[in-house]
Amino acid sequence: MNLTGKTAFVTGGSGDIGGAIARELAAAGVDVAISYVGQAQSAAATADAILALGRKSLTVQLDQRDPASIEAAVEPVLQQFGRIDILVNNAAWNIGIPFPDLDALTADIWDRVLETNLRGPYLLARVFAPHLRRHGSGRIVNIASVAGLFPGGSSIAYASSKAGLIHLTHCLAVALAPDITVNCIAPGLVEGTRMAQRLPEKMAQGARKQAVLGKTASAEDIAAQVTTFCGAESVTGQVLVIDGGMPGSMH
Ligand SMILES: NC(=O)c1ccc[n+]([C@@H]2O[C@H](COP(=O)([O-])OP(=O)(O)OC[C@H]3O[C@@H](n4cnc5c(N)ncnc54)[C@H](OP(=O)(O)O)[C@@H]3O)[C@@H](O)[C@H]2O)c1
Repeated sequence: MNLTGKTAFVTGGSGDIGGAIARELAAAGVDVAISYVGQAQSAAATADAILALGRKSLTVQLDQRDPASIEAAVEPVLQQFGRIDILVNNAAWNIGIPFPDLDALTADIWDRVLETNLRGPYLLARVFAPHLRRHGSGRIVNIASVAGLFPGGSSIAYASSKAGLIHLTHCLAVALAPDITVNCIAPGLVEGTRMAQRLPEKMAQGARKQAVLGKTASAEDIAAQVTTFCGAESVTGQVLVIDGGMPGSMH
């Protein structure tokens, strides 16, 4: 699919990877709306970068723990762009809690992680689906994590939320075919991001050592793959690991 003139909504465009995805899509000719929850200045900087690439941009405040906030996110995008072709479920929240410390992972933290990282993407897909369907070539790309495939990452709740997002990708690919493709990227450690900096250094070093390429992913690697999924005509329900080549994730 030629992406020129298409429109996208990228959640978490104020964050490191969301910003890179928004810029990459804009460079491919897409008008891009991005969401933020608290970091309005970072969102504005991403919006400026989109404009500098010659595309329209829009920032939308969205708390994806709140179903009403999700419902309200569609209208401004439609008003500004007139159509929506691509939804990128990139926003997420995490907190570092060692797996054995079950007492520290409270019900409140569990709910915050699952509501943000799993229920939010589902509700966004539900609200955006009728608009993505309209032109017969809608795209949803979910950003999960290798923590959703292997028991690791910042907390049990985060890993479980990303495992859920991977299976949600499969379920939505079935539910929304043939009008909308739904694919997923599972990054390993993404260098230079705030989220990666919150990981214990030992874990980050371990990831770099295990990667056969001798390096982990960059935000630009993730963004390039989002654009590839959006351009693909006959790929749906797929999960692509981007982690510098961990032997354990090669299958
Ligand atoms: N960085 C990594 O190493 C890594 C590895 C594997 C997977 N990932 C995944 O990649 C994606 C992007 O990560 P990142 O490194 O770019 O993270 P980040 O820089 O921390 O950005 C997270 C984004 O999510 C938004 N957000 C947080 N809570 C939200 C809520 N309740 N409602 C709506 N938006 C909310 C934040 O908004 P504000 O900025 O406005 O607060 C921000 O835009 C996430 O899904 C993450 O799980 C990252």
